[in-house]
Amino acid sequence: MDNQAFEMHGESVQSSSKGEEWPKKEERKGSWSLMKVFLVCLLACIITTTIGVLALSLVYVKNTAFMKETGVTDDGAASPKPDEKSVDIKYQFLNHLGKSKVHNYPGGEIQWARFRKNVNEYQSDEEMEFGKSINKHGSKMTFGTLRIKSKGLRAPHWHFNANEHGYLLQGTAWIGVIGADDSVVTTYNVTAGQVIFFPRNTVHWVKNVGSEDCVFLLFFTTHEELQTLDVDDAFFSTPEDIAARALKPQGGVNFIRTFKKQVEDQAINLPPNLNELVQNATYVQSPDKLVWQYFYNLKGSAKYPFPGGIFQWARYRINGTGLNETEKIFSESLNKHENTLTLATLRIFSNGLGQPHFHFNANEMGYVISGCGQAGVILSGVTANFNIGIGDVIFFPVGTQHYIKSLCDEDLLLILAYNTGNQLETLRMNDYFHGTADHILAQLFWKEQAEFKKFPTPAKKSGK
Ligand SMILES: *[C@@H]1O[C@H](CO)[C@@H](O)[C@H](O)[C@H]1NC(C)=O
Ligand SMILES: *[C@@H]1O[C@H](CO)[C@@H](O)[C@H](O)[C@H]1NC(C)=O
Ligand SMILES: *[C@@H]1O[C@H](CO)[C@@H](O)[C@H](O)[C@H]1NC(C)=O
Ligand SMILES: *[C@@H]1O[C@H](CO)[C@@H](O)[C@H](O)[C@H]1NC(C)=O
Repeated sequence: MDNQAFEMHGESVQSSSKGEEWPKKEERKGSWSLMKVFLVCLLACIITTTIGVLALSLVYVKNTAFMKETGVTDDGAASPKPDEKSVDIKYQFLNHLGKSKVHNYPGGEIQWARFRKNVNEYQSDEEMEFGKSINKHGSKMTFGTLRIKSKGLRAPHWHFNANEHGYLLQGTAWIGVIGADDSVVTTYNVTAGQVIFFPRNTVHWVKNVGSEDCVFLLFFTTHEELQTLDVDDAFFSTPEDIAARALKPQGGVNFIRTFKKQVEDQAINLPPNLNELVQNATYVQSPDKLVWQYFYNLKGSAKYPFPGGIFQWARYRINGTGLNETEKIFSESLNKHENTLTLATLRIFSNGLGQPHFHFNANEMGYVISGCGQAGVILSGVTANFNIGIGDVIFFPVGTQHYIKSLCDEDLLLILAYNTGNQLETLRMNDYFHGTADHILAQLFWKEQAEFKKFPTPAKKSGK
């Protein structure tokens, strides 16, 4: 900046000295400077007027755009700050993951609904609104989808700052987890409808051992940027002599030097000559007491019906009430680690309703697997109702009242995550209505007390 100012100054000095040389007569010189003064004034006038008009029209356009987006729900009560972007508030709770950037690797792909420190990494203002929202609310959640081609491998890796909970939507995978305790290795197969759990900093891998693509729906317990290290990257970043001394191969450091880093990121790996490289693959299963620390058969677990649909839960339960032996291992494992998630599948029947409710102790994030519907969320001062469809991610901050209803001929199926490793605490609209004294409601709503008998007593809760 300083440089530029200096250059401009220098130029003007130069031109004025040039001007002195050219007109020989005093007279001519005088009228020329007067003309110059006039021209400069005129130019200044024009520039100021243009800037003024431009600024005014910008403010106007911004305002009308904002009004259009927030539409009916906003009575103009919230006037936008000048620097506020005109993004629909619903995107604080909704992310169209299907439209997000696909990160491609040789063996598959990854998509994210997450917070980004560098705002330039967001693909759109709507995506940024969601990322900022889950961060601002301290959600302790990030969502991603992981697709692995047949025989593809999600490279062994670990996350510095998050537990990982996943639901296998499709395919068959062989999982390995290396725990901190005596570096015990646990391996197992997981099939569609089952759940995986990788505590923070455990090394884990995922290999597709089926013939169709594996599709994982993954939740990570951070609202910051996920920090991950792949084993191949760690290897190639370790000095050769250090790697040789740590791994002690035959041939020492010369053998270590025969390893070549691939040009392409091997996060999801699938070498074209895999059949030459691997001859003796076996996929063993560790004993139940190990496997169920990191695994849960959500699809095979107990069903909890409610009038509009069915819940199934992968969660911690105090004293393991109602759980069988293997389920208890999972429940205790969740409770043992910090910041774990409760996972659930929610099936809402065609035109069914998950009635308005809120949670005392957990943020909620969900992904629409099939069907279509409508969701609504109420914060203090903010209300949003919006449509949801396959591939959408939704977010309900703790304490916000929300509902989900199905709008299609088929069931609406979601995978949900709640950021509590404890029992989820919930209050439903009909329960708090019923719980509030008739005369309090009469006074509140300016309505005769007897009218409130029209609300039925809520049915006794099923074993949720
Ligand atoms: C594969 O297994 C066969 C039979 O057990 C064995 O002879 C061979 O050495 C193994 N190959 C490798 C690469 O481990
Ligand atoms: C895991 O799945 C693979 C592929 O279907 C199969 O070959 C293997 O036997 C399975 N392992 C166990 C322990 O079930
Ligand atoms: C416990 O229930 C799960 C379903 O959640 C089932 O897959 C498992 O086989 C059961 N374990 C025992 C020991 O019955
Ligand atoms: C759960 O455990 C606590 C403490 O160990 C005990 O006081 C309580 O009675 C148990 N509840 C059930 C339902 O077993």
